[in-house]
Amino acid sequence: MSDPTVTPAPAYSKNNPFLARLTQNYPLTKEGSEKETRHFVIDLGSSGITYQPGYSIGVFAQNPAPVVGEIIERLRLDPTAPVAGPHGTSITLTEALLKNFTLNRVGKKFVKAVAEKLPVGSKKDHLAALCADEEQLEAYIFTRDVIDLLIEYPEAAFTVEELLASLGRSVPRLYSIASSPAKVGNEVHLTIAVVRYTTHGRGKKGLCSGYLADDAPLNQNLIPVFMSANKHFKLPDNSDTPIIMVGPGTGIAPFRAFLQQRDAEGARGKNWLFFGEQRRATDFLYEDEWHDYLARGLLTRFDTAFSRDQAHKIYVQDRMRESGKELWAWLQEGAVFYVCGDAKRMAKDVNQALIDIAAEHGGLSPEAATEYVNVTLAKTEKRYLKDVY
Ligand SMILES: Cc1cc2nc3c(=O)[nH]c(=O)nc-3n(C[C@H](O)[C@H](O)[C@H](O)COP(=O)(O)OP(=O)(O)OC[C@H]3O[C@@H](n4cnc5c(N)ncnc54)[C@H](O)[C@@H]3O)c2cc1C
Ligand SMILES: NC(=O)c1ccc[n+]([C@@H]2O[C@H](COP(=O)([O-])OP(=O)(O)OC[C@H]3O[C@@H](n4cnc5c(N)ncnc54)[C@H](OP(=O)(O)O)[C@@H]3O)[C@@H](O)[C@H]2O)c1
Repeated sequence: MSDPTVTPAPAYSKNNPFLARLTQNYPLTKEGSEKETRHFVIDLGSSGITYQPGYSIGVFAQNPAPVVGEIIERLRLDPTAPVAGPHGTSITLTEALLKNFTLNRVGKKFVKAVAEKLPVGSKKDHLAALCADEEQLEAYIFTRDVIDLLIEYPEAAFTVEELLASLGRSVPRLYSIASSPAKVGNEVHLTIAVVRYTTHGRGKKGLCSGYLADDAPLNQNLIPVFMSANKHFKLPDNSDTPIIMVGPGTGIAPFRAFLQQRDAEGARGKNWLFFGEQRRATDFLYEDEWHDYLARGLLTRFDTAFSRDQAHKIYVQDRMRESGKELWAWLQEGAVFYVCGDAKRMAKDVNQALIDIAAEHGGLSPEAATEYVNVTLAKTEKRYLKDVY
């Protein structure tokens, strides 16, 4: 019989996130880099949340307080005005804008609401015409945040209710976990590229990467997180199986987790890592760790592609092609092939490189090579696994 005095552990989830502690936040990229990629450590404490290498974590971020303050001020609203909060609670307008709405990118609904609010005249006509042209509207919202619109159209007045009804809800962001619990216990390590850019004369930042980099408090149980299991992106059950990992940029994250796990287990399988970034001097994420693994023999092979260290671009797929014969041999030995990072271009190019390697070194026709990579490896044998975003 269960003990009625023992409270069961709460089931933390996206709908019931755990308030975790951020304990470390430091840059991995060095001064002079064009990127800002940071390492974060989140402590899951006694939450009971567990994970496996390959999982992602969901993080709920907050908008910067000065942005919220400026919006309220420009609209001359009461920052303490009560609005509906979660689970039937009442919260202030300030709290709602901090936590629940997207302010760093303007939505079409807000642009249309501003157009409606404008007094009759040429500005209204112009914005209304823009709203009617889907292509123009897309381009318009791509570079603007809520404040940009309030600056451009100070005539538009909103009540609290109208404002909140015209804003998009903010959603949590996922991050591939860069650690193994076998090495770091209750911690979760993250490798995050911070989004920063300037448009219309104002600096902007990504909601979550900006929050974690600049605003999230250290050592307080305040960061709402939840685990996102990735049942398909995992180490092979047999630790003797060789693995090939292609992880340029932040795509390196899950492979740090895989290698920590294989190190902790004393796994004997061969490990081949491909890493790419802009410049060796400033962007070589976790450089010391890879060199240590190489020296200790955990990494069997390690290939780097620093794209901007020479006149022409060198990418991870170029390094794959250079070692195509060996890569093909590893695949024939049963290696699992992993790719993580940019979905739009990198993952497609890596896919093509893999197909070309199968054709050249496996003696397959282009069609047969495509079938082998995209069907046999990826679907039938589940030895080509992707974590791309
Ligand atoms: C499964 C999964 C795993 C992931 N793992 C990682 C990871 O390990 N590390 C990592 O860094 N990210 C990872 N991501 C991406 C991450 O979830 C976020 O998308 C990323 O951090 C950006 O979120 P943000 O809230 O900081 O920025 P957002 O608020 O979402 O803003 C980003 C948006 O800003 C816009 N933008 C950017 N630059 C400009 C510009 N110059 N001009 C105009 N607009 C611009 C773009 O539209 C972009 O989509 C992962 C995503 C998924 C789905
Ligand atoms: N949603 C968001 O706002 C957001 C936030 C962060 C990251 N991202 C995206 O997430 C992805 C990862 O970003 P990241 O900062 O980790 O690194 P990244 O932008 O993917 O860059 C890592 C390395 O990959 C190179 N690269 C560029 N195109 C490539 C290609 N087609 N094939 C192979 N390598 C290529 C880059 O070279 P060069 O730069 O020299 O070309 C760089 O050396 C990117 O798509 C990025 O845009 C999105």
